[in-house]
Amino acid sequence: MMANGDSNGTTIPSFPISKICCIGAGYVGGPTCSVMALMCPDIKVTVVDVSKERINQWNSEKLPIYEPGLDEVVRKCRGRNLFFSTDMESAINEAELIFISVNTPTKVNGNGKGRAADLKHVEGCARLIANIAQSSKIVVEKSTVPVRAAESIMHVLKANNKPGVKYSILSNPEFLAEGTAIENLMKPDRVLIGGEETLDGKKAVETLCWVYEHWVSKDKILTTNTWSSELSKLAANAMLAQRISSINSLSAVCESTGADVSEVARAIGLDSRIGSKFLQASVGFGGSCFQKDLLNLVYICEKLNLPEVAQYWQKVIDMNEYQKERFAHKIIECLFNTVNEKRISVLGFAFKKNTGDTRETPAISVCKVLLDEGAKLNIYDPKVEKSQIINDLTSPRVTDFPDETRKSIEIFSDPYAAVENTHAIVICTEWDEFVELDYNRILQSMMKPAYIFDGRKILNHEELQDLGFHVITIGKKLNRIGFRTFGSIPQQ
Ligand code: UDX
Ligand code: ADP
Repeated sequence: MMANGDSNGTTIPSFPISKICCIGAGYVGGPTCSVMALMCPDIKVTVVDVSKERINQWNSEKLPIYEPGLDEVVRKCRGRNLFFSTDMESAINEAELIFISVNTPTKVNGNGKGRAADLKHVEGCARLIANIAQSSKIVVEKSTVPVRAAESIMHVLKANNKPGVKYSILSNPEFLAEGTAIENLMKPDRVLIGGEETLDGKKAVETLCWVYEHWVSKDKILTTNTWSSELSKLAANAMLAQRISSINSLSAVCESTGADVSEVARAIGLDSRIGSKFLQASVGFGGSCFQKDLLNLVYICEKLNLPEVAQYWQKVIDMNEYQKERFAHKIIECLFNTVNEKRISVLGFAFKKNTGDTRETPAISVCKVLLDEGAKLNIYDPKVEKSQIINDLTSPRVTDFPDETRKSIEIFSDPYAAVENTHAIVICTEWDEFVELDYNRILQSMMKPAYIFDGRKILNHEELQDLGFHVITIGKKLNRIGFRTFGSIPQQ
């Protein structure tokens, strides 16, 4: 079917539309389009990707990502109005609206190395669309991009387009959090759509609003100009990360003073201006977005000659690094200042619970410090693939000696086996199942003295101490004679 609005597809499509294509079948594109297909049975949604392997997984019984509720959504729509394919040409050509949902990693070389977002995949998509499209399209940037990226996409599209083919670019950032993606998508706090003030721009915005209105009430759909929308995504992630760094900075103060960071978080969170969410002190934040978006924001501020603003946001990242390092070094200090040849169990490797994603997980930073100090690690995570943990810890970013590192890590599929004969347990992810473990049984199987370092503050520390564990956590002195605390270590 040709784009609605004219018979030969030379004007910007307007609602109702019947075909959507999403380029990029990752953590954002996959769940987003699955929910869109579920909620819009009148629209055919095709998700395409360059990776044949990824598409095969989306078409199989074992989806490439773990996300509570996702399997059920995919089962309901796949083959009905949801399709996963590597045939980008057909999907792009038939769609009236195309989401660009590819990864935008931090640049690893050249200008802005280590900070700026690398837009090569986004640019690749723009070129591909321009090459293929025979009719006008609404192109929606879903990937997190720097402010004014839409302009660059338009530039590429316009420089390569065919006669009569028009484009309108929208910004529609995704605010889903992993582990709760389906819930976030089904009942979003808001949907943000940024577009141009032109007639075509307005038509495109209205059309995307129409898609969301299938299941989101109008008052939750916010329309802005393109740049506000692009910046809002970076700003939301920066503000969320800043809250975590703020509470983590206070956790250090708590450990030195006897205050308890959970009590402080509760006390300040009851102030309705502050609110209680995202005040959970931890070993540090991880995930594919926070650090990347902060780095990107810092880079943009520097480019805009706003060094004070850049430094302000850089401190949020610095505090996160400090927290991860602080926790790892505390483990070493508590274990008599040496972990050389000591076997330590790491429970949890994902960057948060209910996901198998390990991007920027604090577990990598903690493991790296321990491995550098000569520790042997037994690692268990309920959802992260064994090969992923090995890849992460033997990557050049983490070690110069991948073969040696490989020999120092063992991956387990059972937590009880992972902790056996180890000197310490280090909790890096807040998986619910870690709360339910039989710690009496665990204590019997461990080396003595047995230590638990709770980097997520999920365990009952009093009970563990009663059992005979030495417990160290974040943001609280555990005042028991003979027990060392994170933050108050006796001189060796
Ligand atoms: C985040 C944003 O929440 C989401 O809106 C955006 O679209 C993508 O980035 P995500 O990274 O999936 O989502 O997870 P999130 O729940 O935000 O957690 C990020 C990290 O912060 C995790 O490592 C988590 O454990 C940590 N965290 C979160 C804390 O340490 N304390 C908290 O109070 C909350
Ligand atoms: P995100 O968390 O942003 O969704 P992911 O890395 O999980 O990021 O997914 C991005 C997906 O985009 C990957 O599956 C990757 O293969 C795909 N991709 C990257 N570049 C292109 C491209 N030019 N065309 C199609 N797919 C692409």
